[in-house]
Amino acid sequence: MQLYRKEELTHNMEIKEMGGKKMKAMLVFAFCIEYIKDKVMERLSQAINGIDEEDVHWVVTVPAIWNDQARQFMIEASAKAGIGKDNLTLALEPEGAAICCKYIAMDKKKSGDATELKAFDENSRFMVVDLGGGTIDITVSEVLSTGQLREIYNATGGPWGGNYINDQIIQTLIEVVGWSVMGMLKSDDFDDYLQLMKNVEEKKRGITYDSELSLTITKDLQKKIEIPEKYKKDVRKEKKRIKISSNMMKKIFASSVDSMMKHVDRLLEKDETKLVSSILLVGGYAACDFVQRAFREKFEKRYRIIFPLGSDMIVLKGAVISGHLVEAIVGRMAKYHYGLGLSTEAVSGHILSVGESNGEKQFFSLIKKGQKINVGDVVTEYKVVLTAKTQWTNIEVYTTEEDTPKTVIDEEHFTKVGNINVRLPQFKQESTLALTISYDETEFKVVARDENTGCCFVGNCQFLEKEIKPFLASTTRI
Ligand SMILES: Nc1ncnc2c1ncn2[C@@H]1O[C@H](COP(=O)(O)OP(=O)(O)OP(=O)(O)O)[C@@H](O)[C@H]1O
Ligand SMILES: [Mg+2]
Repeated sequence: MQLYRKEELTHNMEIKEMGGKKMKAMLVFAFCIEYIKDKVMERLSQAINGIDEEDVHWVVTVPAIWNDQARQFMIEASAKAGIGKDNLTLALEPEGAAICCKYIAMDKKKSGDATELKAFDENSRFMVVDLGGGTIDITVSEVLSTGQLREIYNATGGPWGGNYINDQIIQTLIEVVGWSVMGMLKSDDFDDYLQLMKNVEEKKRGITYDSELSLTITKDLQKKIEIPEKYKKDVRKEKKRIKISSNMMKKIFASSVDSMMKHVDRLLEKDETKLVSSILLVGGYAACDFVQRAFREKFEKRYRIIFPLGSDMIVLKGAVISGHLVEAIVGRMAKYHYGLGLSTEAVSGHILSVGESNGEKQFFSLIKKGQKINVGDVVTEYKVVLTAKTQWTNIEVYTTEEDTPKTVIDEEHFTKVGNINVRLPQFKQESTLALTISYDETEFKVVARDENTGCCFVGNCQFLEKEIKPFLASTTRI
């Protein structure tokens, strides 16, 4: 969730462990990935003689609503864990879920008198709502005649996952027992505190629409709790337990469920989603009674609502299937506008004239928000006439989230995500560069070819560092 919230993610970002100690997020992520990788290798080598790391291709899944920085962060953490780029695919979680649902039978079809279970048909459109611990992640896909999936609406979602409920329960406890009592429990009896957190998670999972939440607490904590008057209706203490009424639990769940229902409802009103016939709910939190009721009540009349069994493993299975397919997903939609920031003197067609001024920069869109982009494709081609006073010049790549991008670049609306350093011929005033931009799974690669000399310059959009130092960017002359 910290990767999701962090607007300016860097390699050095720190996160806190439960006791408050700060650690480098990159190291924590890398350790987790390495741990899982080592466990998998251990099990695999028991099963398959002589298998080594090079024989395994790894698929790391990320929420679709993460931005490019967060995705690059995962690629680097994987590299630190010993998974090189060649052995790694980054898969989007709801896409993984969609692939799994496409490949396993879960659509009930009537054929004659019998009903059979089938995977989705060609042309069918379905929404996948992936309800995880942190995020709710939603994609809408269409099944193509080739059996591949195409995203028809760009991924959206929000931070209303299952952990949000735990936070709300703990918040309620803090309000009832007081900050100081909870603070003391955390600082003096950390084991008891962790036990309580575990208990919150376990009991939350078992709760249904009309049940109260009963938490086990220590005798010590029991003695210290004095329930304030205004909570007496909803919170009771009993021997070794504190109980929260079903009414209060309904309110707590509503704080997450209402937000996700509103979001899904708005999505289903869009033109692009008109032909959606099924809604699939996957992820651990899809097992929750409150979530299932809300979806059934609101959408069952118009849509087929599917809760696959073992919903928390669907993304994982889909990721494994996608690792075996060449291109299960043919298209994605750009989440932002991507474009160049240029100080221009004149624009005609695709020819831009660039001055070396420090004045304002104009935004030239390369990829539009919502535009379909195919993995591995050349996205766009531009010709730029450069008139630079220095031999090296820098072309900057920006993103913006606005629906209609502003024409002049400013800090408020734009984020610089990359640059290309171009070396110009020494004695010439002007060079014509042909820019080709391609998209390969997780990053944009920009190639600038000098039309006169044939020299090519490659620049990657490096999403992680905001401050990109000239000449250190990944520019190579080829
Ligand atoms: N029966 C249940 N009732 C309510 N919540 C549940 C239930 N079972 C699991 N959850 C919640 O589902 C969440 C975990 O789901 P999942 O395993 O899909 O998450 P994740 O993929 O690790 O997270 P994310 O997708 O945000 O990265 C946890 O918050 C857990 O409390
Ligand atoms: Mg998940």
